Order: sequence, then C-alpha cells, then structure tokens
Amino acid sequence: MKINEIQSSIGRLKKENDICILAHSYQSQDIIETADFTGDSYALSMKAKEVKEKTIILCGVRFMAETVKIISPRKKVILSDPNALCPMAEQIDAQLLTELKKRYPGYTVAAYINTSAETKALCDVCVTSSSAVRIIKNIKNNNILFVPDCNLGDWIKKQVPSKNIVTVSGGCPTHLRMTVSDVNAARNEHPGALLLVHPECRPDVTSKADFAGSTSAIMKYAENSNEKEFIIGTENSITEHLRFACPDKKFYPLSKECVCHNMRLTDLAELYECVKGLAGEEIVMSDDLIRAAKRP
Ligand code: 13P
Ligand code: SF4
Repeated sequence: MKINEIQSSIGRLKKENDICILAHSYQSQDIIETADFTGDSYALSMKAKEVKEKTIILCGVRFMAETVKIISPRKKVILSDPNALCPMAEQIDAQLLTELKKRYPGYTVAAYINTSAETKALCDVCVTSSSAVRIIKNIKNNNILFVPDCNLGDWIKKQVPSKNIVTVSGGCPTHLRMTVSDVNAARNEHPGALLLVHPECRPDVTSKADFAGSTSAIMKYAENSNEKEFIIGTENSITEHLRFACPDKKFYPLSKECVCHNMRLTDLAELYECVKGLAGEEIVMSDDLIRAAKRP
C-alpha cells in the first residue's frame, strides 16, 4: 500500500471504531498528518481531557500514554508501540525517589512529565517544558527537588533564581548528543540563522541559543518569526515538520545525531495495525495508582 492509501484507510477505521489519534510532535510527518491532534507534552495532556472518542491511540512514548490514561481514566488508551520508552523517564523509579526524598526532607518534589506513573505518584507537582517556569515560580516552598532532568532543571533555575532548586544527574540522551562544537559549526555554516533549542539540551548549548522552549514553542517561534533561517536544536523531526509548515524558510538540524530512536519506533504501517486493533498496548493501571499520579 502507498502512504496516502494507508492514511485514508486509517481515517476510515478511526471513525468506524470511535478512535482518536494523539501524536507527539516528534512523530514522523506521515503520522502527524494522520493524527487528530499533535503537539508537545503539555498540549497532548490538555487535549486528553477533551477527547470524545472511546479509544485514544497515543503515538509517542510510554509516559505520554500513561499521562493520557491518568487524565482520562475511563478511556481505552493504546500506546502505539509497546517498546517505545523514554530513557529519561526510566532514570528514576519509586525506590530512588523515596531515597532522595529522605535526603531532602521538607523539599517540594517537582517531577518532569517524563516520568513513570509510579514516580509521579510520589511527587508534589508535575511540570512540562512549557509549564515548568510558571509552575515552579508559584510554588510557596523555596526548596524544590526537581527530577529527573538536570538540564531542564538548570534552565528553570536560571529563570527562577529566588528558588533553591536541587537537581539529580541524568537527562535526555537524545538532546545530550548536541554539544557546543555543534553550535559553533552550525553558526559558522549558517551565520544568518537563529538557533532555537529545547531546554533538555546541555546548559552550555542552551545558553548560546536565541530561543529555548518546548517543541510546540520552538515551532510557533519559527512560524511567527520574520527571520528566514533557523538552526533547530531538538529532535530532527521538528526540522522536517517546519520545512513542511514554512516552505519559504530554511531549517537546519543542529546535529544529525539528534534522533530519538524510541520516538521513531512507531511508523504509519504500525499505526494502521493499531487502528485495526492488531498492534499497540493497552495501558492498564490500578485506580489507586491513577488517583495518586493524578494529584501532582
Ligand atoms: P515537549 O514535547 O514537552 O517539548 O518535550 C520534549 C520531549 O522530550 C518529549 O519527550
Ligand atoms: Fe525521552 Fe529524550 Fe526521547 Fe523525549 S527525546 S522521549 S526525553 S529520550
């Protein structure tokens, strides 16, 4: 079958089977065009509240499908590829967080949304890259333990210097592949281009950027800017999507290595199997876990 034939079959089956497809922006262009809604982690979480269909297929990684289930527990939620994990979300589990909490008594524990439901259940607040600064600013406690991304934590610290934010080492292996040498090389090659990065990048990369923000914020910034050339410092799918969205502008990846292999696991043919009910994994969680993870 050709791409457009699979896309129209998915469109037909979605309606017949009362399915809504949510796709994170790091998914491939053919999936993005087939989905009912696309965006960053914050946008997907908000959308999960409004979905009318009985079944939601989440094209992305496991913590995103878990988040949809936490927000819409009565829906059947399917993760498009059972092996699609976020390695950063795996860096902290309930046992490690329990130990950290003992080491930092009295601290408010803020978790990045890139965490498992079990980890969220032990946290006070949950943030995304779009909401982190606003939420952390509004926490009454000055002492905050932020897990698991020390790079995002560092970016938040710089914008909320009044808070004592403790981070743990870790981070996104995809964004960590981009270095200052990549920045220097890209700036030399494209001297007129603006550098837009995700705050999951190393602090020395983020500090050299013209703009740092979530995937949706990067896309919005490039789409609304009067500038014509951009170096994109996040997963390379965003460079591709921007080339489709703004054909009159030029987009260059900061590094050819910035590929999230977990996000790449789902392809259009697998999504087609999912809408037929032949692939994907249903997210199942106890009511107690859903309740505890929903609180933050
Ligand atoms: P956002 O989609 O919230 O920008 O986060 C990027 C990411 O790493 C998703 O896993
Ligand atoms: Fe996780 Fe990084 Fe991949 Fe996002 S890009 S899913 S944070 S490994």
